Amino acid sequence: MAKGVFLTFEGIDGSGKSSQSKKLAETLRERGLSVVQTREPGGSDGAEEIRKLLVEGDPNRWSAETEILLFYAARRDHLERTILPALERGDIVISDRFADSTRVYQGAVRSELHQTVDTIHALMIGLEPDRTFIIDMDPEIALTRGLARNSGEDRFEEFGLEFQHRLRDGFKELARDASKRCYLIDGNRDVNEISAEILTLALAAIP
Ligand code: ADP
Ligand code: TYD
Repeated sequence: MAKGVFLTFEGIDGSGKSSQSKKLAETLRERGLSVVQTREPGGSDGAEEIRKLLVEGDPNRWSAETEILLFYAARRDHLERTILPALERGDIVISDRFADSTRVYQGAVRSELHQTVDTIHALMIGLEPDRTFIIDMDPEIALTRGLARNSGEDRFEEFGLEFQHRLRDGFKELARDASKRCYLIDGNRDVNEISAEILTLALAAIP
C-alpha cells in the first residue's frame, strides 16, 4: 500500500494550476516535507516525449480515441516511473493535471467516450488522488493569460473559447460528482489568497 499523499490540480488552460502547484510544493518543502512536483501530460522521460505529440500541432491531428490512448500511454509511464515510487517512499506527489483532465477534455469532445476513459483508467491506472484542487475561472480571462505565454503548446487552447466554456462546465460537474476529493477553488483572485486556501486544504490531507 502506498504511504504518500497524492494531490492534483485541475482546471481549464491558463487558470493558474502550474503557478499554484509550484507554490504549494515550495511551501510544503519549507515545512520539511518531501515533495515530488510533476505534471501531465509528462512527468517522466517517456511521457514527456509523448507530450509533444499531444500539445503541439494541428488541433485536429488526432481522433478523440487516439488521443485518449496517447494520454493513457503517457499516464501509465508517469505512474510507473514517478508517481508510485514516490508514494511508496511516503512522499507528497503534486501533479499539475491527471486523469480528471482526460475525463473532462476528451469527454467534452465526445461525451460517449466517458465510459471508454473509465474502463481504460480502471485497467491501466486504478489510482485516484487523495485531494484534487479544481481552479475555476472565467475562460476569457484564462485564455488571455494562457495564450500570452506564447509557449508553442497551444493545441488545446486553439479549440477556442466555446470549448473552454464546455470544459469549465465539465470541471464543475466533476467537482459535484467527486465531491469527497475535489475542491472547487475560485481562481479569479490574488495568487496568494488562492494559495493560502489550497495550503489549508492540502495540510488537512497530510497525516
Ligand atoms: P495553467 O498552468 O493553469 O495554464 P499558469 O499557472 O501557467 O496556468 O498561469 C497562466 C498565466 O496566468 C501565467 O502567466 C501566470 O503568471 C498568470 N497567473 C496565474 N495565477 C494568476 C492569478 N491568480 N492572477 C493573475 N495572474 C495569474
Ligand atoms: P497543460 O500543459 O497543463 O496546459 P495548460 O498549462 O495550458 O493548462 O496541458 C496541456 C494540454 O493538454 C491542455 O490543453 C489540456 C490537455 N489535456 C487533455 O486534453 N487531456 C489530458 O488527459 C491531459 C492531462 C491534458
